[in-house]
Amino acid sequence: MGTHSKNMSKTNFLSNLILLAIFITVLTYSSTNPKFSLYLAICLPIILYLVHSLFSSHAQNYENTPPSPFALPIFGNWLQVGNDLNHRRLANLSKSYGPIFLLKLGVRNLVVVSNPQLACEVLHAQGVEFGSRPRNVVFDIFTGGGQDMVFTVYGDHWRKMRRIMTLPFFTNKVVNTYSNMWEDEMDKVVRDLKQNDNMIGIKAKTEGFVIRKRLQLMLYNIMYRMMFDEGFESMEDPKFMEATKFNSERSRLAQSFEYNYGDFIPLLRPFLRRYLSKCRDLQQRRLAFFNNYYVEKRRKIMAANGENHNISCAIDYIIDAENRGEISKDNVLYIVENINVAAIETTLWSMEWAIAELVNHPKIQQKIRQEIATVLNGKPVTEANLEQLPYLQATVKETLRLHTPIPLLVPHMNLEEAKLGGYTIPRESKVVVNAWWLANNPEWWKNPEEFRPERFIEEEGSTDATVGGGKVDYRFLPFGVGRRSCPGIILAMPILGLIISKLVTNFEMKPPPGEEKIDVSEEGGQFSLHIAKHSTVLFSPI
Ligand code: HEM
Repeated sequence: MGTHSKNMSKTNFLSNLILLAIFITVLTYSSTNPKFSLYLAICLPIILYLVHSLFSSHAQNYENTPPSPFALPIFGNWLQVGNDLNHRRLANLSKSYGPIFLLKLGVRNLVVVSNPQLACEVLHAQGVEFGSRPRNVVFDIFTGGGQDMVFTVYGDHWRKMRRIMTLPFFTNKVVNTYSNMWEDEMDKVVRDLKQNDNMIGIKAKTEGFVIRKRLQLMLYNIMYRMMFDEGFESMEDPKFMEATKFNSERSRLAQSFEYNYGDFIPLLRPFLRRYLSKCRDLQQRRLAFFNNYYVEKRRKIMAANGENHNISCAIDYIIDAENRGEISKDNVLYIVENINVAAIETTLWSMEWAIAELVNHPKIQQKIRQEIATVLNGKPVTEANLEQLPYLQATVKETLRLHTPIPLLVPHMNLEEAKLGGYTIPRESKVVVNAWWLANNPEWWKNPEEFRPERFIEEEGSTDATVGGGKVDYRFLPFGVGRRSCPGIILAMPILGLIISKLVTNFEMKPPPGEEKIDVSEEGGQFSLHIAKHSTVLFSPI
């Protein structure tokens, strides 16, 4: 019998013991206190039911579940492992419990996968079985109970949403249509950093500038122009400020550990009332903002042009699908919501990491410059010629390897009981693939803690797992792989390559005066790994 099954029997034994103790205590007391008997008649069945259900809902007798620390009744392993189950803690636990282990967090099962073969099983070979997403009370609010695409269960709704989103967002044609616009937005950043008569330019060349702020505006402009054909004037534009405030508050509330107790122990859920009403209030105002300022505006433009309306941005395609009756008005809004959370911050974190590492590695900046000069012979870098620049591409990959922006991918879930690595995975387990550990485990990488793009050029070794005939390196999965993998990779990779090439060819990027290096300490949420302190960077024009 597996360790976990033994734990289950202990849990059952304990639950029975507690039930018996309650029973004997109340019987003894009620025989001496008749008034109490009345309360007892009402309360005892409820207490017995609650205690029993608390234990029994989790104490299903699964045989052969993955290795797991000893689980306490009610809390499971929660008190031992705590809330902050980040990629590093889970990597450490995998050293004790192996490449697949299970943690019980109250009523939830968390299965953690930490080797390439098992990652291939979850994401590819059993991609259907593990293709759903776990839900919780907070995500139910932010996704309208699964009306979106990113967090919805695997099934017809997800398939339809993914199909509808593909044409306007995730094709080569989209990349070709918009790459000039991306470059325009990037050139504006370069101009701002070079100018001597604005705050950004002056700071950038003297004391250094927190580049995140300007790149955030650039990425909002890129995504909002693709979505709605509309951008923002400046960092002070009230609509930009409102959009960023709404999105960062949404990320904070969804990624916080504060609500775990209500998610793990349903009995405590009533105490989450205030937290949940905060989430509801934010979500209502946020969706109204997307709807009133953007979606309705496009609807009116399309309606005014009647049958002959031109599709001129992504949301027009989506509204068209709504008009054909394929999706609802709410689904349209949740697509906008998903792009706001999935596309912008992830790409922004990656840019911040890349810039910080480049500042700390001036030789790599020089090598990129050299490659561009040699290969392109004075021609500018464009989306079309990125593929001729392997060292630049390797720098992007190395950034995503060392600082995997979504280190545990978006959690997966099996709707039904399943088998993984020879173990039984109870149904509706949250299954995470520790992508950061796959990409930073010294067992598979030489000096993984070093930022060294060369590794992607010189050391081509990978694991044997294959997908559809092509070779997939399951050690390196910053975008996941398989059915639920990131469709935005087609946009994110060229956007990252282009911005790095523009910055490196226009500036020497250095730490601010008086500092030797940029601090690359990390900070993580439930789904994110970002730089703890936004870097201040000195931009010396070349
Ligand atoms: C560097 C930038 C990005 C990174 C590192 C990243 C990473 C990821 C990861 C790890 C997943 C989950 C994969 C899984 O669960 O197995 C994901 C899902 C997703 N990403 Fe990205 N992403 C990035 C940029 C983008 C962009 C630019 C977009 C859209 C324009 C986007 C849209 C999505 C969507 C819609 C999903 C959900 C897919 C599904 O559940 O079917 N991402 N991303």
